Amino acid sequence: MATGLDKTRMENTFWRIERRPEGTDFASALALVDAPLPDLQDGEIRIRNAMLSMDAGTRLWLTDREDGYQPPLPVGAPMTGLVVGEVMESRATGFSQGHLVRAFGVWGRVSQVDAAMSGAILLDPSVTDKRAWFGPLGMNGWTALWGISETGAAKAGERVLVSAAAGATGILAVQIARLLGCEVWGIAGGAEKCRILRQEMGCKGAIDYKAGDVGKQLDAAGGFDVYFDNVGGPMLDEVLTRMNHYGRIAVCGLLSDYSSGTRTAPAEFDQILMRRLRVEGFFSPDFMDQGERLTAQLKAWLDEGKLTMPYDVTHGLENTLTAYAKLFTGGNIGKVIVELET
Ligand SMILES: NC(=O)c1ccc[n+]([C@@H]2O[C@H](COP(=O)([O-])OP(=O)(O)OC[C@H]3O[C@@H](n4cnc5c(N)ncnc54)[C@H](OP(=O)(O)O)[C@@H]3O)[C@@H](O)[C@H]2O)c1
Repeated sequence: MATGLDKTRMENTFWRIERRPEGTDFASALALVDAPLPDLQDGEIRIRNAMLSMDAGTRLWLTDREDGYQPPLPVGAPMTGLVVGEVMESRATGFSQGHLVRAFGVWGRVSQVDAAMSGAILLDPSVTDKRAWFGPLGMNGWTALWGISETGAAKAGERVLVSAAAGATGILAVQIARLLGCEVWGIAGGAEKCRILRQEMGCKGAIDYKAGDVGKQLDAAGGFDVYFDNVGGPMLDEVLTRMNHYGRIAVCGLLSDYSSGTRTAPAEFDQILMRRLRVEGFFSPDFMDQGERLTAQLKAWLDEGKLTMPYDVTHGLENTLTAYAKLFTGGNIGKVIVELET
């Protein structure tokens, strides 16, 4: 939709939130619009977006919930998400035209953001596969490493279970736990995802929650010391009754609630006491100050070929919503990215 054109200003095309989405009906809730960019202010950079990161957690920003880990995005605002691209223009110290950066920008051709507020960082141009800045070297990598090693405190020889294990965060958590010497199991939807987890990601076994009787499959797997949970909901209850004593549950995400609007309320809560479990949520912006250290570890594993990431790439800004929906319908294996023409 073209708005009144102001010939003196640069136009942007971006996805705007028109209303709160129901379930995965994003097409009724977001609209692709054109609008002129405001003048660049002190501290701001203008990024030509080359790639958009699709992240399941951003679904919460589209709800009305005020009690989330950050306030919802207002209706009428551009949809926000991580972007990678080149600086077109800068009024921020440390950023110059041509620099490759990652920041919380907008789902559009251009992100005009305050460099500090958007968490903008300069990226090492020698990394040949730029998609890695959203995967192993991005928030998913940091989250997976932190959740397994710090919150889950997984130790060599322990048994680790990961839910949504074939998605971006899960597939990294699986590999990192294995690199730390753990025996790893994944939960995912479908036989092909479970095959990949077992045969390509080093899982000892995989639970296909879409194949029925999750409890029976978990019983066959045996008890777990660490549960890296991306899902919550009824699956969490199944796992709570199968945790080993003194186990840890690292609460990474609650996918079962995001598009359904349900609230995870474990019926098996008493098992936390009975089994002396530690259950702890964690949130990647809280450890952004550790980013360099985490990235160095992840990059070393990546360079040694010890970490891999399958990418699910969609081309074209106009196809963003189709890519986004995959996160909530299980249509992806690995990291979902939208590549834009630059
Ligand atoms: N705490 C943090 O700081 C932080 C940071 C990043 C991500 N996260 C969390 O990490 C999780 C994964 O996010 P992501 O962006 O990496 O997405 P992703 O794992 O690449 O994609 C989501 C996957 O989750 C599975 N899924 C979707 N709905 C489900 C449901 N109701 N029950 C079971 N599985 C379901 C689907 O695979 P199946 O085919 O297996 O169903 C889907 O492919 C999310 O919970 C997100 O909030 C947390």
